Amino acid sequence: MSERNPHSPEHIAIIMDGNGRWAREKGLPRRDGHRAGAESVREVVETCKELKIKFLTLFAFSSENWSRPRTEVQALMALLREFLKKKIPEMSKQGVRLHAIGRLHDLPEDCQEALNSAIAETSSNTALDLILALSYGAREEIVDAARQIACEAAAGHLDPESIDSNSIATRLYTAGIPDPDLLIRTSGECRISNFLLWQISYAEIVITDKFWPDFKAADLRQAIDEYARRNRRFGAI
Ligand code: IPE
Ligand code: IPE
Ligand code: MG
Repeated sequence: MSERNPHSPEHIAIIMDGNGRWAREKGLPRRDGHRAGAESVREVVETCKELKIKFLTLFAFSSENWSRPRTEVQALMALLREFLKKKIPEMSKQGVRLHAIGRLHDLPEDCQEALNSAIAETSSNTALDLILALSYGAREEIVDAARQIACEAAAGHLDPESIDSNSIATRLYTAGIPDPDLLIRTSGECRISNFLLWQISYAEIVITDKFWPDFKAADLRQAIDEYARRNRRFGAI
C-alpha cells in the first residue's frame, strides 16, 4: 500500500511511551531506551511518507517531564540535539518539513539553536509535516492562548463577544495545522498525559501494548488499518 486511501488519516499524533520499560526489561539504562526510541521515530517518519500521511505530531518531551532526574533530562536533550543534527538532514532529503510546538524557550539554548536551524533548513519541503512536541503541555498551550486573547481584548483589538472556538484554535501552537485524526499511544497506558487536549476532541484513539522502541512500520500500518475500520460520526447518526 503506497497510495493514501480516503480512509487513511491526514494527521497522526503519537504519544511515544515506554522507552524506560523497554530498557529495564533488557537490563539496560533508561537512556538506551530513549536512543532505541529515536530509531522508531526514523522508521515511523519514513512509513508516514510512504503512506502519504500529511502531518505527524510526536510527543517527545512533556512539560511534566522536566520533573525527571536531571541526568535523564540531560540525556534526553543530548539525544534531541543529536537527532536534529544527524537525522533531520536525512529526513529533509525525503521532503520532511520540521515544526516544533511547546514552550520552546525552556529548552537549553543549544537545543533551541539546533531546532531553529533544522526548521529553517526544511522549511521549503512539502512531503510530510513533522511536528515535534517539546516542553509541551496542552494546558499550558491553552493558558498561553487565553493570555494572548486577553491581551488583545484589553488593548481593544478584539471584541470579547466575537470570541469563538476558531479564535482559540488560531492562537494555539498548532494554528494552521489540521486536528489529528488518529492518536496512537504505545506501552499500554490509557491516558492522554496533557497532550493536545483541544485538538484531539474527535481523534480516533489506538492504544498498543508495544513499547515505543518496538513500534515499527508494521505496527503503524496496523493502527492505520484499525482507524480505517472505525465509524467517525462527529455527533451525527
Ligand atoms: C517515553 O518513554 C519518553 C519520554 C516520556 C520522554 P518513558 O521514558 O516515559 O518510558 P517509561 O514510560 O518510563 O517506560
Ligand atoms: C508522556 O509520557 C509524555 C511523552 C511521551 C513525551 P509520560 O511517560 O511522561 O506520561 P505519564 O507520566 O506516564 O503519564
Ligand atoms: Mg512513560
